[in-house]
Amino acid sequence: MSDPHRLEYLQALGIGTWRLRGAQHEPAPAQGPIVAHMDWTQLRTCVAACTRCPLHETRTQTVFGVGDPQARWLFVGEAPGAEEDRRGEPFVGRAGQLLDAMLLAVGLKREQVFIANILKCRPPGNRDPRPEEARSCADYLGRQIELISPKILVAVGRIAAQTLLKSESTLAKLRQQVHSFGPAGVPLIVTYHPAYLLRSPAEKRKAWEDLQFAKRVMQSGSSQS
Ligand code: URA
Repeated sequence: MSDPHRLEYLQALGIGTWRLRGAQHEPAPAQGPIVAHMDWTQLRTCVAACTRCPLHETRTQTVFGVGDPQARWLFVGEAPGAEEDRRGEPFVGRAGQLLDAMLLAVGLKREQVFIANILKCRPPGNRDPRPEEARSCADYLGRQIELISPKILVAVGRIAAQTLLKSESTLAKLRQQVHSFGPAGVPLIVTYHPAYLLRSPAEKRKAWEDLQFAKRVMQSGSSQS
């Protein structure tokens, strides 16, 4: 069997790392492809035990995400804050309450959508995620997106937008456009982070426009909302 086929076969069996006898120095395959074959339960278990980056040393628990695993809408934020780290659920602090209100404004309840973050662990002191942390965590969210197979992705805030779109553009430039995510070309819309809106309430109107825009994109792509 050729190497790529053998790797695929072993991965399908759930065998993650392997080494030919005598080939002591052959590097073990990266964890990425293994995650790419996990089901929801395996992924959740794997994330809960993750030690890929130093954030595992300071977290209380991982924050996998919440909502309907078959949701049509997937909202992606930045990283858990103190309250999320304590409760194990994304967007449950003040910013989360505003996100819930934003969802309701376009007729969506929290339990109808799925909410996740770029990072599954809280960066200490609520600092921005570091690029290497986002890279370590990327295939977890990638697999969540594949398994949920949402009809639309909403990047909540600059960090989520720039990370998902691999872009350095400002949020102001990225919003009000339909981007495309991944090989499946999932439509992706960008909006403001509710924590920013709490500091700049005058911008709430723009966030409302973004969600209305997302709703129109969703409706144009399907017969149900
Ligand atoms: N901010 C985020 O981006 N995500 C959370 O889960 C909480 C606050």
